Amino acid sequence: MKKLLAALGLVLTLLVGFFIFSVYSGEEQSAENQQEALTQETKRDDSLSEAELTVASDETDNQDIHINREEYQADDYHISMSYPVFKSEQLNSQIKDYKEQVIDEFLQAKSDVNKPDDSLHYLTTSFELNEIGDNLYSIIFEEFSELAPTSPYTQNKALIVDTEAQEFVDASEAFNQESLEDVAGLIRQSVEAEYPDYFFSAEFDRLVENGRLGDYIYFTDTDMVVSFSQYLVTAGTAGPVSLEFAHDEIKHLLTEEWAAQLESADDNTSLVSDEEVEEAIEEESQPGDQEIALEDQTGEDTTQETEPGQKRVALTFDDGPHGSNTEKILNLLDQYDAKGTFFMVGSSVEFYPEVVEKVHKEGHEIGNHTWNHPDLVTQSNEQINFEIYSTDLAIEKVIGERPTIYRPPYGSTNEHVNSIVGKPSIMWDVDTLDWKNRNPQAILENVKAQTQNGSIILMHDIHDTTVEGLALSLEYLSSQGYEFVTVSELNGY
Ligand code: NI
Repeated sequence: MKKLLAALGLVLTLLVGFFIFSVYSGEEQSAENQQEALTQETKRDDSLSEAELTVASDETDNQDIHINREEYQADDYHISMSYPVFKSEQLNSQIKDYKEQVIDEFLQAKSDVNKPDDSLHYLTTSFELNEIGDNLYSIIFEEFSELAPTSPYTQNKALIVDTEAQEFVDASEAFNQESLEDVAGLIRQSVEAEYPDYFFSAEFDRLVENGRLGDYIYFTDTDMVVSFSQYLVTAGTAGPVSLEFAHDEIKHLLTEEWAAQLESADDNTSLVSDEEVEEAIEEESQPGDQEIALEDQTGEDTTQETEPGQKRVALTFDDGPHGSNTEKILNLLDQYDAKGTFFMVGSSVEFYPEVVEKVHKEGHEIGNHTWNHPDLVTQSNEQINFEIYSTDLAIEKVIGERPTIYRPPYGSTNEHVNSIVGKPSIMWDVDTLDWKNRNPQAILENVKAQTQNGSIILMHDIHDTTVEGLALSLEYLSSQGYEFVTVSELNGY
């Protein structure tokens, strides 16, 4: 992945209004009402986006693709979506269409099922980015929800994007016209060989006839990957189907231009490999080591002496790092000589390692907020371990140490989850509701009403409005004599 400057561009600011979608907890809303809320919210935010435009316009943004994250919480469901943001509005509008479709399908499915118990419905989406040539990227979306044809359900959608031409590319364009039949043959042979008892031959043929095979093909720096959702060309038992073909294996089928592109593709190295994560899980599950790890957390008392009468709070920022807002927050904290705690999402850490480094260098604490922001209570032990360890390792690669605290997404956890994670789970007592109100003044009012000595204040460094709300809150709290410390300092870890 390209490591480039993480400054917010003009286009991103313009788009902020489009992506705001608010869900009010406690209210039962139909899919249509929710979409209506989206439209209203978009209108309400127009003025704000314009105001910020002047601030953002002189910043330079060298990064082709940014990551954005949205979360919605209601009484009966949790949604977490991360998606790419491009400089081109045309590309973004297609991503927006896709996002809305996914949300619509989820909300529709939710209203169609009779909930057997109090368990929450959940939808988590994430994406993987592969640079496969000059200005050419593969983006692979993954949806995880229990509300789909069967449960749990994983669905993949792959897009190839040309950031220079500002368009999505059909993967079948990579092949010579006369080779398309051979490509289909190669894939058919491979699915048949791997899933002999589950292959739906007629479904596969229909895809090919309709010219849709390209929808399921993408490229990485080393392979052509063919990825079919569960049920598409195989029986459900087979799960989602993923086949890999080395570049060399398919080179003769490619157009000259694509052969050259893939040839020149740099090796993509993700921050953490699956093998490393598995190793780390293995290591920690050795009984002896675990004790040491736990001892380290509670070990030496590093709490600074508090002067009598001194009031302290911990400001916490979830769901980042963000391409521009995290740094704005760092600047604000610096002005007040304040230390904060950032509960980071691993997939964004991988996107913005420079920001992570800066947060650490400036003396703030970094906590684990999982890799993809799922509701951990809905996850298997294996998934919980993966979410936590991959994020631990990604942060360690950047700052040289692993987080010692974690915050469960949505604050949703239980004893079982906490025992698997093996770190103190950090909640909050001041909820600014910044993700919902998107209003600096409302953030300040919540801070004023709820903060007391020893409070842990919850904010999200992914929203523009939170930056402004933090500025107001810092001014107010410091005027009230509060000092701003990290969570571990406050709790005496
Ligand atoms: Ni969160």
